Amino acid sequence: NNLDTLYRQVIMDHYKNPRNRGSLDDGSVTIDLNNPTCGDRIRLQMKVEDNIVVEAKFQGEGCSISMSSASMMTQAIKGKKLEEALKLSDIFSNMMQGKEYDDSIDLGDIEALQGVAKFPARIKCATLAWKAMEKGINE
Ligand code: FES
Ligand code: FES
Repeated sequence: NNLDTLYRQVIMDHYKNPRNRGSLDDGSVTIDLNNPTCGDRIRLQMKVEDNIVVEAKFQGEGCSISMSSASMMTQAIKGKKLEEALKLSDIFSNMMQGKEYDDSIDLGDIEALQGVAKFPARIKCATLAWKAMEKGINE
């Protein structure tokens, strides 16, 4: 249907024109994570000041789902408080499990990936960047 088509366009746009692709210098947290199923990897770097994610960038190689998800995730968490970033991760996780999720806050583009919940093999692709973000915040 139309929504699926729109979501597919959003995903391809993030894949072809990734937001926040690149690296950050000193003073940032660096997390390297891979998807053991396929070996694809991501490096996420975040700069946190006063409990706020002021910068987030990623590098890596992966499928269109993992790379577009990293692009959407960095876009979504920039400027957010750490607890807001973790809340978004929670929401995304529920989305990937096909559960109901809190859409009372602005989710930006990340909802475009909700269809991935129907393809269990791809869920790890979509959650890779979010796992990296959680790991970075919890460390
Ligand atoms: Fe197979 Fe990502 S692990 S599509
Ligand atoms: Fe490797 Fe999707 S196939 S992350």
